[in-house]
Amino acid sequence: MTQIITIDQLDRAVEVLTNGGLVAFPTETVYGLGADAESSVAVSAVFEAKGRPAGHPLIVHLASASQLDRWAVDIDDRARRLAAEFWPGPLTIIVRRSEVVAPEAVGRRETIGLRVPDHPMTLELLDRFGGGLVGPSANRFGHVSPTAAQHVLDDLDGRIDLVLDGGPARVGLESTIVEVLDGPVTLLRPGGVSVDAIQAFLGEQVVDGRDGQSRAAGMLASHYAPRAPVTVVKSRHEAGLSDTDVVIATEPGEGQEHTIVLGPDAASFAHGLYAALRQADAMGPGRIVIVPPSTGLLLPAILDRLTKSSAPRH
Ligand code: TXA
Ligand code: MG
Repeated sequence: MTQIITIDQLDRAVEVLTNGGLVAFPTETVYGLGADAESSVAVSAVFEAKGRPAGHPLIVHLASASQLDRWAVDIDDRARRLAAEFWPGPLTIIVRRSEVVAPEAVGRRETIGLRVPDHPMTLELLDRFGGGLVGPSANRFGHVSPTAAQHVLDDLDGRIDLVLDGGPARVGLESTIVEVLDGPVTLLRPGGVSVDAIQAFLGEQVVDGRDGQSRAAGMLASHYAPRAPVTVVKSRHEAGLSDTDVVIATEPGEGQEHTIVLGPDAASFAHGLYAALRQADAMGPGRIVIVPPSTGLLLPAILDRLTKSSAPRH
């Protein structure tokens, strides 16, 4: 059985992690599945618990940007500036890795994704643990990411040691991922920090790396997916709704179908989206029909996740 603990039991979490165990932790984006990023054994247990194929690299979470030089080498100045500006926060920066990380954690690549999460409990946990924690989203592979401690239990009860309960995740969608090596800064996943904000801060264009080869696991066709089929539409009239559909939209409808109302702005839609997908799925609907908002800084991230949760399954 996996136990949910709170901040007063942080010492237990540190002890479990130090002994190679698995502790899910809250962040501002989604809950992460934490393990010692320097331990091959602990990292392998993360892949096992998630059912995640080996070779999919994990993000490593740090207590502060001052640890960058321990985990990375040949760090581009733009990566340092982004870290100083956006950490703690929902931005993952991919840089060249040092020898510190367990090779399994980065899928045996020469790069590593690093992030300082913006959640007081997890910053405290990282600080007391002292090292880096791998932190894939704490869900079974391919499923909807968890934005509450209970979601973690729903997916991983009995497979991990502890869940640190930090309340509902503030942003509700995963971090933005950018690769910062020698060439232009490349976007691998839109998320909590907008590309516009990154471009404005750096004073240069960010290249969209999502069309090319699948470099991020979130690029698999079906991902972030509930059990019921998902349909995304611009307006509910397009959907040909029936009574067995559950709708997730910014406004209630007039028909018989059940609607989960989120928003109306993109930030609050994003905040509630994953919980709504889980809630809708639990109702056993014929389809989950989603009508996303039409504007907002988080819209690219929302549409990215919805495209994947509605992709054909294999
Ligand atoms: O918001 C987040 O980023 C959450 C919280 C817990 O921090 N974590 C998260 O992790 O979303 P995960 O494992 O579900 O997604 C990490 C993504 C994957 O798509 C992975 O392929 C990509 O980051 N990634 C990690 N390291 C990489 C690397 N070295 N090169 C390319 N992609 C990498
Ligand atoms: Mg994930």
